[in-house]
Amino acid sequence: MDGMVRLGGPAMARPLVIAIDGPAGAGKSTVAKRLAERLGILRLDTGAMYRACTAWILAHGVARDDPQAVAAAVAALRVDFDEQGRVQVNGEAQPEELIRSPRVTAEIWRVADNPACRAHLVAQQRAIVAGRAAVVEGRDATTVICPEAQLKVYLDASPAERARRRLAEWQAEGRRDLPDLAQVEADIRARDARDRARAVGALTIADDALHLVSDGLSVEEVVARLAAYAVQRNPFVLERAVADQVLVGRSRQAGYVRVAEGVGSHGWQLGLSNPSPDRMPDGVADFTRNHGGRQAGTVLQGMAILALGGRGEDPGRIDALPMLPQTWYIIEPGCWHAVIQEHGTICAWAEDCGIREERRALSAAQRRELAQFLAVYLPK
Ligand code: C5P
Repeated sequence: MDGMVRLGGPAMARPLVIAIDGPAGAGKSTVAKRLAERLGILRLDTGAMYRACTAWILAHGVARDDPQAVAAAVAALRVDFDEQGRVQVNGEAQPEELIRSPRVTAEIWRVADNPACRAHLVAQQRAIVAGRAAVVEGRDATTVICPEAQLKVYLDASPAERARRRLAEWQAEGRRDLPDLAQVEADIRARDARDRARAVGALTIADDALHLVSDGLSVEEVVARLAAYAVQRNPFVLERAVADQVLVGRSRQAGYVRVAEGVGSHGWQLGLSNPSPDRMPDGVADFTRNHGGRQAGTVLQGMAILALGGRGEDPGRIDALPMLPQTWYIIEPGCWHAVIQEHGTICAWAEDCGIREERRALSAAQRRELAQFLAVYLPK
C-alpha cells in the first residue's frame, strides 16, 4: 500500500448523505442514480419501496379500502434491495414493469397516505442508509428520513416541463396509446396535490434545502451542479469522485492520486487536500495530506479536471499551483473562491510531481457541465 492513496480518514466519520425531494417527474430518479454513481455511493429510491408494497397488497388480496388492513399487511413486510438494486418484498424481487405500472401508480396513495405504512417504511429506509454515504430520493427524504443530511435538495420543474419529459420518455420506450400532453400534465398536477396534502410525510421544501428548478437543464448539468454542492458540503467527496472514477495509482509522493495516464513516465497527478480548514465537516482540522500544494479536483465527464485550489505553502501565487490539462482553479486563502484560468502554466512543483502540461479543448458537453459546476462557486 506504500504510496497508494488511502481513502477515508477523520472527515469520513460522518458519511455524506444527500437527500433529494421533489414532485413526480422532476427527474429525481435519473439524477439520484447518476449522482450516486458519480460519487460512488449508495442510492436509495424510496418511491420504489412504496411502489413495491402497493404491488404486493394488490397481488395478495388485501382489503385495500380498509386502511387498517393495509397497515397490518404492510407492517409485516420487509422491503429492501437486492445486489442488483432491485426492490424486493420479503426477499422476493418486484419487477420494474409491475411497480411502475399505471395501476400501481394509481393505487399507491393507499400506502403512501397511510401513516402506519409510512412509519414502517421510514424505519426501513433509515436502517438501509444508517452509517452509509448515500443519495436518498423521495418526498420526505429531506424532512423525515434524513433531516440531518449534509445536502438537501428540492428538485423541481414546471408541470408543463415534467409532462413533456414524461411523454418523451414513454415515446422513447415505444409505448402506445399514449395520453395527450394536457392529460399527462393534469395527472401530474393531481399527484402533486396529493403528495403535498397528505397529513404525514407530505412533500414540502425544507427551509435549508437547495431549490433547483431544472427547466432547461440537462441531466448532466443538474448532476454537475449537485456534485459541486456536495463538494462544498464535504470536500472528501472530491477525493472519492476522483479516486473512484479514474485510476488510483502509485504516486511518487504519498498522498497523491494519479488521475490519468499522461505522457511521460509519471502520468498526470492531482494532489488532493482541502484548502479551508474552517469548512471541515464536523470541524476536522487537518485534512491536508499533501505537502506540495493545496488543491482538490473533480473529474468532469471523465476527462477534464476541475481543481479547487487553496494557497499552497507559497501563498499568493496562482502559478504556485500546478496546472493540469484542462484545469480551472478556484483559489482563495482559507476559503473557497474563484479565480479561473483557462490555460495552464506549469510550475516547478508540478514538474517535481511529474505533471506534464498538455492542452486540449473541452467538448461542448464538458463546457456545459463545467458552467454548472462553476455557477455554484461563482454566485452572481
Ligand atoms: O418517486 P415515485 O414517483 O416512484 O413515487 C411514487 C409515489 O410514492 C409518490 O407519488 C408518492 O405518493 C409516494 N412516495 C412517498 N414518499 C416517498 C417516496 C414516494 O409518499 N418517500
